[in-house]
Amino acid sequence: MERSMRVVLLLIRVLAIATITFSIGLCNGIPGWPPLCKESERQALLMFKQDLEDPANRLSSWVAEEGSDCCSWTGVVCDHITGHIHELHLNNSNSVVDFNRSFGGKINSSLLGLKHLNYLDLSNNYFSTTQIPSFFGSMTSLTHLNLGDSSFDGVIPHQLGNLSSLRYLNLSSYSLKVENLQWISGLSLLKQLDLSFVNLSKASDWLQVTNMLPCLVELIMSDCVLHQTPPLPTINFTSLVVLDLSYNSFNSLTPRWVFSIKNLVSLHLTGCGFQGPIPGISQNITSLREIDLSFNSISLDPIPKWLFNKKILELNLEANQITGQLPSSIQNMTCLKVLNLRENDFNSTIPKWLYSLNNLESLLLSHNALRGEISSSIGNLKSLRHFDLSGNSISGPIPMSLGNLSSLVELDISGFRV
Ligand SMILES: *[C@@H]1O[C@H](CO)[C@@H](O)[C@H](O)[C@H]1NC(C)=O
Ligand SMILES: *[C@@H]1O[C@H](CO)[C@@H](O)[C@H](O)[C@H]1NC(C)=O
Ligand SMILES: *[C@@H]1O[C@H](CO)[C@@H](O)[C@H](O)[C@H]1NC(C)=O
Ligand SMILES: *[C@@H]1O[C@H](CO)[C@@H](O)[C@H](O)[C@H]1NC(C)=O
Ligand SMILES: *[C@@H]1O[C@H](CO)[C@@H](O)[C@H](O)[C@H]1NC(C)=O
Ligand SMILES: *[C@@H]1O[C@H](CO)[C@@H](O)[C@H](O)[C@H]1NC(C)=O
Ligand SMILES: *[C@@H]1O[C@H](CO)[C@@H](O)[C@H](O)[C@H]1NC(C)=O
Ligand SMILES: *[C@@H]1O[C@H](CO)[C@@H](O)[C@H](O)[C@H]1NC(C)=O
Ligand SMILES: *[C@@H]1O[C@H](CO)[C@@H](O)[C@H](O)[C@H]1NC(C)=O
Ligand SMILES: *[C@@H]1O[C@H](CO)[C@@H](O)[C@H](O)[C@H]1NC(C)=O
Ligand SMILES: *[C@@H]1O[C@H](CO)[C@@H](O)[C@H](O)[C@H]1NC(C)=O
Repeated sequence: MERSMRVVLLLIRVLAIATITFSIGLCNGIPGWPPLCKESERQALLMFKQDLEDPANRLSSWVAEEGSDCCSWTGVVCDHITGHIHELHLNNSNSVVDFNRSFGGKINSSLLGLKHLNYLDLSNNYFSTTQIPSFFGSMTSLTHLNLGDSSFDGVIPHQLGNLSSLRYLNLSSYSLKVENLQWISGLSLLKQLDLSFVNLSKASDWLQVTNMLPCLVELIMSDCVLHQTPPLPTINFTSLVVLDLSYNSFNSLTPRWVFSIKNLVSLHLTGCGFQGPIPGISQNITSLREIDLSFNSISLDPIPKWLFNKKILELNLEANQITGQLPSSIQNMTCLKVLNLRENDFNSTIPKWLYSLNNLESLLLSHNALRGEISSSIGNLKSLRHFDLSGNSISGPIPMSLGNLSSLVELDISGFRV
């Protein structure tokens, strides 16, 4: 009895000492105690570091010393239990371009030694003349690959199409181009794809291949030198929520399919050279919340009633060629928070119904030919933060009720005639 008691006490003491030592280890910041890191993976990282240019010495914790636990190195995330490296966060700050802190140089293929790596972020660095290594296509455990704004050069290696576990792929970068996008079809689990600024002018297959990705949620191909939207017999895009094709020169009518994607929430088609009327569509759109068609040459004749849907929160038609009255269908858009109709040729008075859209936070009507007065009902728009009526032919008096708009942070009625 007494003996077993003693054994238990002893055990408690050993445990207590172990706990204290462990806590001291943590408090003193002794990196990675007990060491978790796999030796082979540590060597792989050290080899990778040798070829990397690191002017700010951001990887100073990556040292060859015996016992240094790579799981506690900057940017390295290991699995708590197995100790395998799962993530490498080697992105630079994405708020300011900070070349002094950018990694550059070569990417050593020793990274292939990280067999369990699923997250690799090298975004916002400066690899300038380096190409994206084709061996990246062999890192098949990757689910997340971010090379956005890292100035890799040349043609995107089609081997990336072997990364069949990828959910997130970001290659947005000015210096990259492709011969085609056929390889994308190997990425059947992809949810987010950002190819902004990549020169896709040769990828006439861009729409067919992306349309076949069954899990795609976000497709961003802004400023990609795309010229045409090929015919699309079947619109799949069943999971697509965000579509951004801004700043491509399609110079055509707006294709019907962009408005016919079933679950789309956010549509950005700024500066696409779209001309003429917005196509009519047969089904009711219920998912769209954000539509940006600014900087095109779109007209609203005939009025696409379906576009002025009650559920839409943001409608941006800035800098198009819309003439005449503000479309009365807008009065149905009772949830609207942002209405941007700047730089068109609206020439009516401000209609009464506009003052009933009381969820409006931004009402931007500048540089049209609107006439008449501002009604005192403007006081109804209690949520208004940005109100821009400048560059119209509005005349006085200035309603006192403007003073009731307590959320207002921007008011521009310049050009107003009293
Ligand atoms: C890397 O990106 C993450 C967000 O994805 C951010 O929190 C972190 O600050 C970035 N790292 C650096 C060094 O800027
Ligand atoms: C980068 O380094 C140069 C030269 O050392 C220095 O003049 C400049 O201010 C640095 N830039 C930033 C953003 O720190
Ligand atoms: C990777 O680094 C090692 C050690 O610095 C070097 O011997 C090897 O040639 C490098 N591999 C590549 C593909 O650059
Ligand atoms: C892709 O990377 C760029 C550069 O870091 C970033 O601005 C952009 O938001 C990223 N795209 C997505 C979809 O995360
Ligand atoms: C990787 O992709 C290339 C070209 O896309 C292909 O030839 C090769 O067979 C693929 N390798 C594997 C292991 O799938
Ligand atoms: C894009 O690539 C095409 C064909 O390679 C080339 O003619 C064009 O100048 C490039 N455009 C830009 C903006 O780099
Ligand atoms: C749409 O998806 C189906 C099933 O995944 C596929 O068979 C078909 O080829 C796709 N259609 C297009 C136009 O990509
Ligand atoms: C669209 O909505 C209207 C009114 O809610 C309904 O009568 C009509 O059947 C719907 N059309 C389709 C194609 O769903
Ligand atoms: C407003 O514009 C329309 C279409 O351009 C034109 O027919 C109409 O005469 C204009 N009205 C006024 C009052 O200028
Ligand atoms: C408002 O919506 C209703 C129901 O969808 C429709 O019947 C009506 O024509 C719309 N009003 C305007 C002015 O478009
Ligand atoms: C401002 O709001 C108050 C309270 O809703 C109302 O009594 C008053 O008439 C409003 N003032 C103006 C100038 O509309």
